[in-house]
Amino acid sequence: MYAGVDFGTSNCSIGVWEKKGPILLPLEGESTRLPSALYTSRPNVRIEEIDEIELKKRVTDAKRRQTTESKKAKKENRKVKEFSDAELENIERGIMRREIAERAKARYEGQSISEALYADTEVVFGEAAILRHIQDPQSGYFIKSPKSFLGADIKHQHIELFSEVITRMLAFIKDNAEKNTQIEIQNIVLGRPVNFHGTRGEEGNVQALSILERAAIAAGFKNVEFLMEPIAAALDYERSISEDLVVLVLDAGGGTTDCSMVKLGPSYIQSRERNGSVLGYAGDRIGGTDLDIKLALRKIMPYFGKDSLLSNGLPVPNTLFWSAIAINDVNAQQQFLSDSTQREIASYLAQAIDKRKVQRLQSLQKGRLMVRLNRSAELAKIHLSDRDPINLPLRYIEREFVIPISRRDLRESIERELDVFLSLMNEVEKQAGAKPNIVYVTGGTAKSPIVEEWIRSSYRNIEIVVGDAFGSVASGLTTWAHRIYE
Ligand SMILES: Nc1ncnc2c1ncn2[C@@H]1O[C@H](COP(=O)(O)OP(=O)(O)OP(=O)(O)O)[C@@H](O)[C@H]1O
Ligand SMILES: [Mg+2]
Repeated sequence: MYAGVDFGTSNCSIGVWEKKGPILLPLEGESTRLPSALYTSRPNVRIEEIDEIELKKRVTDAKRRQTTESKKAKKENRKVKEFSDAELENIERGIMRREIAERAKARYEGQSISEALYADTEVVFGEAAILRHIQDPQSGYFIKSPKSFLGADIKHQHIELFSEVITRMLAFIKDNAEKNTQIEIQNIVLGRPVNFHGTRGEEGNVQALSILERAAIAAGFKNVEFLMEPIAAALDYERSISEDLVVLVLDAGGGTTDCSMVKLGPSYIQSRERNGSVLGYAGDRIGGTDLDIKLALRKIMPYFGKDSLLSNGLPVPNTLFWSAIAINDVNAQQQFLSDSTQREIASYLAQAIDKRKVQRLQSLQKGRLMVRLNRSAELAKIHLSDRDPINLPLRYIEREFVIPISRRDLRESIERELDVFLSLMNEVEKQAGAKPNIVYVTGGTAKSPIVEEWIRSSYRNIEIVVGDAFGSVASGLTTWAHRIYE
């Protein structure tokens, strides 16, 4: 059997063809959306036994030291307490136990996520993974949005790690879909953004596609074809129209924003060769996660000491806040968790005029709560789509800590990103050399009224259709799978 798989930065979906159209399969409970997250607990470390020969040696040494010390004390007319052999053994046994516990703790904390993944520990996915991480960030490893790292300049060991993480996620999706349909899924169409998140251009895209393809094969799929996500979204919309149209598609997702201009309609729908109907496409490496990061930086970090002055008249450096909230930048996050940053924050705390704010930054670092804070910023953004203003509780940072955030705050924080959305649409129009009949908007980020209004204000005379924000790419990929594999 065949399927369409949307391996999204924020959410994954899988669809299969049923009679006349694509249907998405449940992946977590009833939900057809699986948040792109994985959690694995740290493997337990073996506690060593006490080495009895070493213990005897230590007791003999301790006795020798005691005899020497007693002789010296006698000469100097001092009194020292003398321990019996049994007492000395007890003391040495206690010391050895403590040493063993310290070594075990260091080994436990020094393990890497790769070791955890290969050690056969429990691995959970989706919302369950997010909850486990939030409940107990210290005792496990958590990876969110692995797709956003695939095009980045990452080290060999990180490539291996992400390949393994994605293999596990795709295998979980495959397994669930097969349990649901009772048929093995061998062939898939996998979505890809026009440009993967990262700074390496086409080189990054090649790297990302190679990781994804290898992971899909390792997860057990036999044939993997890629389709650009904004074209998949267009193919989904095409099933609902009865005349030929030129459609400008904007897919504003979690990690990337993609745009395409496609000729759609009854004249093209049966064709297996669609290159001719694609008039243009473009994509940028920003998405909903970047909106969360910007909101956190601009409107939440000021409560953590950003822009506050120290006693020397200087502010706490901005780079520190950036590394705290840039959850899609591995190097920045490692830097934020490093011992040197810990010392840096302690020194800013000593010099801070408003200590309470820098204390919050310290709590964020000590508790490794960056992902949780990003999640709070994301929830603020999502709630602002329905209400304005909102109160954002951050009680895991400090008791009774709640901050007000308005839609205007969000809009001010994401001005650059809104401009990027429009410039992508302009670029695609230029490539196509045509104006669209319809603008079709999809992807979770398009649910924000700020984004929708921004697009409406620039395309005043053109009908704007807001599609199924979360399902249209997966449905389009499934439609294409049906066309090429059936
Ligand atoms: N009501 C809402 N208002 C604003 N943003 C929202 C809303 N609901 C979800 N989002 C955002 O949508 C994004 C996820 O969208 P989507 O599921 O389309 O992304 P994705 O397909 O996983 O990512 P990509 O296509 O970039 O790989 C997240 O950033 C999420 O915060
Ligand atoms: Mg998407």
